[in-house]
Amino acid sequence: MNYPVEERFELGPLVTFVPNKKYPVYNWFHFKEGFSRDFVIMMFDQFKLKEGSWVLDPFCGSGTTLLASKERGINSVGIDAMPLAVFVSQVKTMDYNVDYLKHIARDIFSRKFVPPSLKGLSPLVKRAFTKFTLEDILFFKQVVSEIKDPVAKNFFTLALLSTSNKVSMAYKDGSVIKIRKRANIPPFRPVFKRIVKRMLNDLKTLKTRKSVIKVYLGDARRLDFLEDCTFDAIITSPPYLNIIDYIKVYAIENELFFGQTKYDSLRSYIGLDVEKDYSEFEYLDIPSVGKAYFKDMKDVLLEMYRVLSPNGNVVIVVGEGVFPNKIVPVPFILSDIAKSIGFKVKKIVHANKRIVTDQNRKKIGIALESLVFLKKG
Ligand SMILES: C[S@@+](CC[C@H](N)C(=O)[O-])C[C@H]1O[C@@H](n2cnc3c(N)ncnc32)[C@H](O)[C@@H]1O
Repeated sequence: MNYPVEERFELGPLVTFVPNKKYPVYNWFHFKEGFSRDFVIMMFDQFKLKEGSWVLDPFCGSGTTLLASKERGINSVGIDAMPLAVFVSQVKTMDYNVDYLKHIARDIFSRKFVPPSLKGLSPLVKRAFTKFTLEDILFFKQVVSEIKDPVAKNFFTLALLSTSNKVSMAYKDGSVIKIRKRANIPPFRPVFKRIVKRMLNDLKTLKTRKSVIKVYLGDARRLDFLEDCTFDAIITSPPYLNIIDYIKVYAIENELFFGQTKYDSLRSYIGLDVEKDYSEFEYLDIPSVGKAYFKDMKDVLLEMYRVLSPNGNVVIVVGEGVFPNKIVPVPFILSDIAKSIGFKVKKIVHANKRIVTDQNRKKIGIALESLVFLKKG
């Protein structure tokens, strides 16, 4: 457990999604659990990646690593287990014909409203929107679903999804969805129009270069479709131990746009199912969900090692795990696992710290969020 440690809390904001809010295309979908473009660009420079290098993000979320790669002409592969994340990553990194999209936009906004049926929607979705808003969402969803070109259809679906979030009464509070009644909900159509206009402008503003970008729906523990020694670097951030149930947090988006209401949970552990055999982590004095997390992360690290080129670099952004009676030093335990696999642990950089409390607001302690730097020897 003796690794070089640095405290660089000035990096804290960069490992959040917040800086992305000001960047075109990056801000097309607010992914609270994401890191920033600025962080990824900093890593490209640190790892001396150039045009034509290959980067992997096995937990690509909203596609920040992939889009930053596109800006730099770096080739990238992203994987995520959640269809919504794969969809957002694909739409943000696609090449578009802006004039064609404008033509389709004109057609969409010339359509006359026909009230759709609200049958079959879950109580959560019905509480999250007013009846009028929900009717607008479903009406435009139908219009967008009739677009023949799949690339354009996805572009407008993401615009619709972002608009729905803007006019929703639901908000994400940590790992739960809460509803707050709002008095002045803006009418849907003008907001949708404004968002489409901004997205079209963004496509002109963001300067990208030619590169290969592939996004897959998959499981970071099983990357068998990727060849050995392919990547120059891995820039990624897995789910944090015991924090977010991604499927629950994005339940509204998933139901409205992906027609999916039931998933196996993805939460503290990164797997789609909990591996039963985590006996090798029995020595850790933590709840079994934590042991399963480390078993899953070991499988991920083994795959990362395999697909990384010799001398390839890895940075993993990860937070400590919080349980009612203890804080689990995830970055250090991951470093131990990585070392046992053959990685060199270059350093652990602490970038954020937050006070964590239990349900009764009693302080449990201070949890760190850190960057774990590894190198394939
Ligand atoms: C912390 S977020 C990554 C955010 C990303 N860095 C960004 O900037 O948008 C972790 C992601 O891991 C995904 N995930 C969870 N389990 C997974 C698994 N077994 N394989 C691949 N992705 C998984 C979640 O859906 C989530 O999008």
